[in-house]
Amino acid sequence: MCRPLKAPHNDVIALSSVPSNFTQSVLGAGSTEEKGENARLSSFVGAMAIADLVKTTLGPKGMDKILQSMSRGREVTVTNDGATILKSVHVDNPAARVLVDISKTQDDEVGDGTTSVVVLAGELLREAEALVGQKIHPAIIIAGYREAAEAAQRRLQAISLDHSGDEVAFRADLVNIARTTLSSKILTSDKDHFAELAVDAVLRLRGSGNMDAIQVIKRVGGTLRESYLDEGFILEKAVGIGQPRRVENAKILVANTPMDTDKIKIYGARVRVDGIDKVASIEAAEKDKMKQKVEAILAHGANCFTNRQLIYNYPEQLFADAGVMAIEHLDFDGTERLALVTGGEIVSTFDDPTRVKLGECKLIEEIMIGNERMIHFSGCKLGEACTIVLRGASQHVLDEGERSLHDALCVLVQTVKDSRVVYGGGWTETQMSLVVDDLAAKTPGKRSLAMEAFARALRALPTIICDNAGLDSADIVSRLRAAHAAAPDACRAGIDIEKGTVGDMQELGIFESYKAKNSALMSATEATEMILRVDDIIKAAPRQRQG
Ligand SMILES: Nc1ncnc2c1ncn2[C@@H]1O[C@H](COP(=O)(O)OP(=O)(O)OP(=O)(O)O)[C@@H](O)[C@H]1O
Ligand SMILES: [Mg+2]
Repeated sequence: MCRPLKAPHNDVIALSSVPSNFTQSVLGAGSTEEKGENARLSSFVGAMAIADLVKTTLGPKGMDKILQSMSRGREVTVTNDGATILKSVHVDNPAARVLVDISKTQDDEVGDGTTSVVVLAGELLREAEALVGQKIHPAIIIAGYREAAEAAQRRLQAISLDHSGDEVAFRADLVNIARTTLSSKILTSDKDHFAELAVDAVLRLRGSGNMDAIQVIKRVGGTLRESYLDEGFILEKAVGIGQPRRVENAKILVANTPMDTDKIKIYGARVRVDGIDKVASIEAAEKDKMKQKVEAILAHGANCFTNRQLIYNYPEQLFADAGVMAIEHLDFDGTERLALVTGGEIVSTFDDPTRVKLGECKLIEEIMIGNERMIHFSGCKLGEACTIVLRGASQHVLDEGERSLHDALCVLVQTVKDSRVVYGGGWTETQMSLVVDDLAAKTPGKRSLAMEAFARALRALPTIICDNAGLDSADIVSRLRAAHAAAPDACRAGIDIEKGTVGDMQELGIFESYKAKNSALMSATEATEMILRVDDIIKAAPRQRQG
């Protein structure tokens, strides 16, 4: 018979007589525990510190940060991207880690809005801290925040615009979104150029959303404006000696195979021969093996052979004799991308040509970018394939340029999937804050205080954007609020950063993706809720090894 799992009643009575510091002895040696108010305070402080760290980078006039690695290379990164900054700082505070994670998730999901999400969560926590100070229980704050977030989300949905039916208007939306995303980044001075470039690249994907088909090549030299979009695929490699420099109607065998049977690979291996002619015969036998391999490869009928590994001189010569272009030592990324865009498969055995799928493209030729030779594959089987060649004065500029472009490409791919857009420049935040204020006015009880706090946190975003631009935030944000309150449905007012006033977002072309805004709102609320629920932080030391 099974014994009941429940402990007998008298055990419970025995536990209640345990002294209050009992938990200390439950936790292993070296473990620490923060309880109640202390735990909450340390969460608030940690999370707000992280939000303050990236706060100054928010908006088109936000500042950049220099990140310097303390390890040997002392590598320097100059960036404005919230996710990049947060990824590179090591934080010990658990609540701060939560914010770092939401920023990373935002980066993976939509690519943009990685600063906004952390700043919003920080502001929500700052407001919550004040409410806790007024002796409002976290559970009430959470309930109020949740209702407020739902109302804000409903409003966001209602005010989003969708032009997916009209191709021209939708393209204009995409260009505007790209310009807005790029306007807070290094590419801002050439944002029109890069916005067109990013939209062209994304529209080539025809909705597949496969960003791997867009390759970004960075080459130091020239200026950012000289960057361009190239149809096809570019490989940063050179053609082997004596081989054709141009191949039309190419059939490409993408391989990952060792060609070096001419080396005795086992170090220290000794081959004893009784005459110099035998050495020659070993060499001949090895050469013969290589020749057989090259013949097996040639039997596939490809006129271009690319290998992940080295090809070496003798096989290279054999390929040259057969009129086949051979390209050696591709990197992993290059090999996989080439296989993807030409529709081929990566091959490592060559016994049965019928089972091998060759890649195809119309033309392979050598080109020059800056003063470097590269190989250009055009008319690829995967018509989506394209390459963005970034030029710039230094590697740091190029790296930040690539990150910014990546943000724009990600947002555009998401917008092609979900075509809804909203105005930027504090428009959505003001709209949402108004409905939340409305809800607070109609809600009896302390929850309404939490809702008011939520609306204030939303308005903090346009305030910070103005502050970062050196504008009078109190004046602009209050005017923005008044304009929206006067005509909530028809108002298109947002911050005009250049003039330092309130401007028409439609005319200024400041658009953002609905998905980015929605996910920032929801992630920030969820993270805040999670942090608010904490009343105990236990840090357990790793168990000591015995013996
Ligand atoms: N020209 C502009 N005028 C006014 N506001 C703008 C303009 N361009 C962008 N914004 C606003 O700036 C905010 C975005 O700033 P920013 O790009 O620095 O941060 P993010 O997108 O949250 O994070 P990140 O780009 O680092 O991932 C948005 O709220 C957007 O509406
Ligand atoms: Mg941005």
